Amino acid sequence: MIYPLVLWIALALLPSMQSSQPASAKRGQVQFSQSCGFCHGRDATGTTEGPDLMRSSLVRHDDNGNLIGPVIREGRPSKGMPAVGLNEAQIADVVAFLKWQLDETSRANPSDPHELSLQRLLTGSAGAGKSFFNGAGECSHCHSPSGDLAGIAKKYAPADLQAHFLYPPDIPKTATITTRGGKELTGELVYHDPFSIAIKDHDGWYRSWPSSDVKFQIHDPLAAHLKLLHQYTEADVHNLFAYLETLK
Ligand code: HEC
Ligand code: HEC
Repeated sequence: MIYPLVLWIALALLPSMQSSQPASAKRGQVQFSQSCGFCHGRDATGTTEGPDLMRSSLVRHDDNGNLIGPVIREGRPSKGMPAVGLNEAQIADVVAFLKWQLDETSRANPSDPHELSLQRLLTGSAGAGKSFFNGAGECSHCHSPSGDLAGIAKKYAPADLQAHFLYPPDIPKTATITTRGGKELTGELVYHDPFSIAIKDHDGWYRSWPSSDVKFQIHDPLAAHLKLLHQYTEADVHNLFAYLETLK
């Protein structure tokens, strides 16, 4: 009887011996090993069933679950990642664990994470990247290798190029307002909440209306990029990167 008890105490103490792990990350670790560990490995470094999440740029760029949350909730069923039925608190814990584990990993292995991801990204195929660019990725709907993206590989260092096509810098949303009288105005969206909406029109004038008084349509030029984040496979990202690197 005593032996299992001692073992249990030792196991219970073990996690607290790691460098002060916040409570949410601790709960997340348990949850992760139950719900995700089978495919991603208990330490999140991957198995044959699922990728290494410590090398995932999506995990690295996640901010409070904004990128990881949708992957857990919706999964990528066609790519072997199931939707996992966790509630919001459990998702927040899992995200806290992944972030903590990322910090621990980079502390244990101080070589530059950019270098690591760069070496991995350079394993892609530029030809496959080009096909994705013109095909499934629909990049060519908005970009051209001889137009706006000409010389893009010279403009950014490789690691920054990766960040720029995955997460282009914020640019303003626009809105088209139709007033009760049927007048249409388009401009940069300045403010919007359930009660009011404001734009800066083409002449630089700030104009606002109660939301209920007008019809409006908001346009986010980066919506396509956010959507793409949930569609890319790792291979797509590596291939695209290899292709964009040829645009010197
Ligand atoms: C049945 C296996 C399986 C389970 C269970 C699973 N995953 Fe996955 N996961 C995958 C596979 C396979 C992919 C790669 C999908 C792709 O190529 O887009 C993936 C992708 C991901 C990604 C995206 C990585 C990236 O860089 O694009 C995240 C984040 C992720 N999983 C988190 C989780 C979390 C958190 C859990 C548990 C709540 C979980 N997964 C459970 C198999 C699994
Ligand atoms: C619906 C339109 C749209 C689609 C589709 C789209 N993008 Fe973009 N992309 C934008 C906008 C808008 C920006 C931000 C403005 C800018 O920097 O040019 C941007 C920015 C970028 C940048 C950064 C450019 C710079 O100079 O910093 C890269 C690289 C890029 N996109 C690559 C891609 C790739 C690769 C795809 C396909 C996988 C893609 N885009 C799909 C609209 C789109």
